[in-house]
Amino acid sequence: MEDSAQEIKHLPVFSFPLTPTLSLTMTQQNNTQNHGTTVWDSSRVLAYYLMDSVKRLVNDDFGTKKCIELGSGCGLGGLAMAACGYDVVLTDLQEVIDRVLGENVRRNQWEIRQWMAEGASVGVQVQDPKARVTALDWIDFYNHPERINDFDPPYSYIVAADCIYSMDLIEIFLTCIYRLASPLSTILVSLEHRDDLVVNHFVSEAKRLGFEIKLVPKKLLRLSVNEDVEIWKLKKKRVKSTPVKA
Ligand SMILES: C[S@@+](CC[C@H](N)C(=O)[O-])C[C@H]1O[C@@H](n2cnc3c(N)ncnc32)[C@H](O)[C@@H]1O
Repeated sequence: MEDSAQEIKHLPVFSFPLTPTLSLTMTQQNNTQNHGTTVWDSSRVLAYYLMDSVKRLVNDDFGTKKCIELGSGCGLGGLAMAACGYDVVLTDLQEVIDRVLGENVRRNQWEIRQWMAEGASVGVQVQDPKARVTALDWIDFYNHPERINDFDPPYSYIVAADCIYSMDLIEIFLTCIYRLASPLSTILVSLEHRDDLVVNHFVSEAKRLGFEIKLVPKKLLRLSVNEDVEIWKLKKKRVKSTPVKA
């Protein structure tokens, strides 16, 4: 049932089979100058990896843990986390929210709820998936650390797909993640490995800024979509406290 590497970028609306029984309806626009209005392969691979690896929160645990997605675009990664029972905030530039993200989250929240209701035991109250959209511009947040109050960290999961493509944005993007994370956060960044220089810079900047970083083994990814997609797992290192002098 896995999504194949078929070309879907030209379709204004398509169905994405997240599980054998849950298909998301994804709206995209390929006639804009904006990268965020189409679904990139990195987000498809990430969505499958999340469904395969994240423990679903059910019953009393439902919605008790938080996830934030950066550069959501059409929103596949964040929607997969909502289907896993997380309280998710999907973020991007306002233009992307207005064009595609807002609609995708509204529409698919309903689809996810129907799916949860169909899978629930008789008599179990099904809750609405928790997914909301908010604008988060990495450059603005980098320059205004006090904006952290708008985002209510830390998060159990921080996810992002295809946000590593410009050398200039890597430090800015990673700094945003650093502010949103705690040492307990699991950070998953999927990317399409197009340029060694960009990927090497991402890894070295992550280490310099205080993350541990490792590549998720490729055998754990559904790469029929695109063999060049990688997922990197980051952890924020604990900062050793300096002993206070008496
Ligand atoms: C290649 S797209 C990936 C979109 C989506 N995650 C996917 O994989 O389909 C890169 C995303 O990063 C977002 N982005 C770029 N610069 C940004 C910035 N300064 N602040 C927030 N988001 C930004 C774009 O709007 C776009 O949604």
